This record gives sequence, C-alpha cells and structure tokens, in this order.
Amino acid sequence: MSDDGPLDLPAPTRDGGTGPGVFIAFEGGEGAGKSTQVRLLCDWLTAGGRAARATFEPGGTPAGAAVRAIVLDRAHTGLAARAEALLYAADRAQHAAAVLRPALAAGEVVVSDRYIDSSLAYQGAGRTIPLDDVSAISRWATEGLRPHLTVLLDLPPETGLARARGRAEADRLESESLEFHQRVRATFRTLAGGDPDRYLVLDATRPVDEIAAGVRARVAALLEAGA
Ligand code: TYD
Repeated sequence: MSDDGPLDLPAPTRDGGTGPGVFIAFEGGEGAGKSTQVRLLCDWLTAGGRAARATFEPGGTPAGAAVRAIVLDRAHTGLAARAEALLYAADRAQHAAAVLRPALAAGEVVVSDRYIDSSLAYQGAGRTIPLDDVSAISRWATEGLRPHLTVLLDLPPETGLARARGRAEADRLESESLEFHQRVRATFRTLAGGDPDRYLVLDATRPVDEIAAGVRARVAALLEAGA
C-alpha cells in the first residue's frame, strides 16, 4: 500500500448526537471505484490504530440484503419509483439503526459505500421524484444522521458504465439510459458543490493510488480537526 500520510491519527472528540465516531460516505456513479477506495481507506485507518469499519448500501444488514435483492433484480421492471425510493430508505433506516449509529457510538470511523446522496441522485434526479421528498424520507429513516464527510468519486457515466458492464451483467439501475446516469452525475456534483466543507470531489478517472492519497489527506485533516 502506498502511504504518504501520518499513521498516528488523533482520536476525534466531535459529537453531533451520534457519539464520538466519524462517519464518512463515498458516493458516485456506476464503476467509479468506490468499493476499492472504501477498502483502502479502512486499511489505512486500521494500520494507523483507528477502529474503522467498511459498510455499504443497499444491503449492509441482513434485512437490507433482502431489500437489495428486490431493488437490483432486473425482473422487477415495473417497480414504481416511489416504491423504489421507500425500499432504499427502508434499507437505510436499518443500516443507520443497526450498523452506523452503534459504530459511531463506539467511537469508530465508519465508511459507507453509498448513503443518502445516492437516493437524491438516482430516485430524485434519475426517477424525477422531487428532491425535497426524497431528502425528507431519508432524513426520517435515519433520524437525521449525516456524514461528517462525503467523498464523491466523479466520472463520466459512459466510462463508469463501461467499467461496470465489464465486471458483471447490468443490474436494474445500471440498465437505465445514459441520460438517467447523466442526471445522476449532475446531481452528485451539485450536492457536493453546494457544501464544500462536507464534500471532497475527486476525479475517478485518475489512478487508484492517486485517488487514495487524496482521500487520506482529507480524512487526516478531518480527524485532526476533531482532536
Ligand atoms: P451496487 O451493486 O452496490 O453498485 P455500485 O457498485 O455502483 O455501488 O448497486 C447499488 C445500486 O443501487 C446502484 O445502481 C445505485 C443504486 N442506488 C439507488 O438507486 N439509490 C440508493 O439510495 C442507493 C443506496 C443505491
């Protein structure tokens, strides 16, 4: 693992009603490399002596795995947009209650592959449900739990879809049109652009190590600030 950051990371003392832990989300379109970066970040944190936990949506809990099977199954072509939005929110409610909040209460750094912004981008912009509605459902589902930092791995959907399709057969969301995925990308970027203190946007076409170094630098600063 290449490494250019300090490994003696300070313990944060922040507490937004969520306990002493730190919540980091990764967002981005298909094939952006989120799962790789989540893993590299957690490895680095662990090597530095921090308790770090990687998790994901949809499906980061046993009940959520059942929800995941429904939302990604291409057989469910007729799934209504509002049903889809509620299913993702239900998965998130369980994830927040059973994984995220307990980890934060225990002082861990919890790193999630996707969170609320995915619902705003896919169900909001993609399915064209008003963003305020999608946001309200997820806020209710999570009792207002927000990441301290969201890392957006940004890349053109043409590139990401080609990567994802090289890996496995397209799931229900991946099978959507290029225009759908362009709206998804634009929304991720707008959300990030509106709140630079809580977002880090990285070019996901860059080499894996370079992206990982950018993530580490920002996370180290975040942990320092909480010390
Ligand atoms: P996944 O296989 O985890 O894909 P990826 O590797 O791209 O993260 O599938 C998750 C899919 O679910 C992905 O297409 C995005 C979509 N999704 C939503 O539409 N809304 C949501 O709230 C979440 C969390 C994911």
